[in-house]
Amino acid sequence: QNARESLYIVSEYAADYFANELWTGEDGRAIGLSYFKERGFREDILKKFQLGYSPDIWDALIQSAVAAGHKEDYLEKTGLAIRNDKGKLYDRFRGRVMFPIHNFTGRIIGFGGRTLKTDKNVPKYVNSPESDIYHKSNVLYGLFHAKKAIREFDNCYLVEGYADVLAVHQAGIENVVASSGTSLTTEQIRLIGRFTENVTILYDGDAAGIKASLRGLDMILEEGLNVKVVLFPDGHDPDSYMHHVGSGEFKKYIENTRKDFILYKADILLKEAGTDPIKRAGIIRDIVESISRIPDDIKAALFVRECSSLLQVEERILLSELNKMRAARF
Ligand code: GTP
Ligand code: MN
Ligand code: MN
Ligand code: MN
Ligand code: MN
Repeated sequence: QNARESLYIVSEYAADYFANELWTGEDGRAIGLSYFKERGFREDILKKFQLGYSPDIWDALIQSAVAAGHKEDYLEKTGLAIRNDKGKLYDRFRGRVMFPIHNFTGRIIGFGGRTLKTDKNVPKYVNSPESDIYHKSNVLYGLFHAKKAIREFDNCYLVEGYADVLAVHQAGIENVVASSGTSLTTEQIRLIGRFTENVTILYDGDAAGIKASLRGLDMILEEGLNVKVVLFPDGHDPDSYMHHVGSGEFKKYIENTRKDFILYKADILLKEAGTDPIKRAGIIRDIVESISRIPDDIKAALFVRECSSLLQVEERILLSELNKMRAARF
């Protein structure tokens, strides 16, 4: 048995332990399970994603794991346990609802833990650190549960958070992943690219989400994938919006308001610029800049045409701008 295998095994043990606490522990049920229920998550979704609860005790997991024959060393190497200055081990996750993170073959490699406190000084999420089995930049939360549906529907929905993945699943849409623990990386986009060429961004409808969507769509275009975006109203994220309007309306909203990246950027940017011609010129340049990232010339040409008719600028001018930008890039 090699060392990596031992890390998988102890992670699996921890997931089972946390799930058992959630479903049968006194605090787990009273605090953890009721928290998920108050947020509107169904039991089948909680079970499918093997969600759990970590007791609010310094070393609950360590005690249980060691008694079951697991080595402290492996608990430490997965980051489930942390050693303090005095050499004493304590649990990283305490008093949190637990989201196990699977690799795409379904093995557990890490965890996200959400606090139940509303105290602003407590970090909302704590994540496992990097380890020999967990490399954040090439993991997508939910991919194991999504990959079949991604192939089937030839599209992957991309959300910000763990809860969003659960909510979108609960609405009956299974081809959804999150880039949890990091901002979106090129490796994560390439991972999606193994299953489909089409990505639909469903980020939070707040300033941070919009900013991240603009960055993400450029990165996705650069990897040669097609990208659409859905913007949620009033600062909603997919999770809050799904619970707000229900799964039927949620699905309709996604179908009806998804926009290709040009229309999405134009809508967002034009709202800020109004009719000011100098600002409008800046927006046009900004959109052409995104188009210039597309490796396929024919696709790029088609998007230039769309941009031309949408913003009422001659195609010829856009093409010359596009060529300048490409020349500067390569
Ligand atoms: P909920 O409040 O549970 O619905 O979480 P959310 O997913 O809506 O959180 P938010 O939109 O604030 O952040 C999106 C994602 O960023 C989360 O799912 C986490 O993966 C991550 N994140 C949020 N807060 C923290 C934090 O305090 N620390 C770390 N490391 N990650 C965070
Ligand atoms: Mn947010
Ligand atoms: Mn959110
Ligand atoms: Mn939020
Ligand atoms: Mn949320």
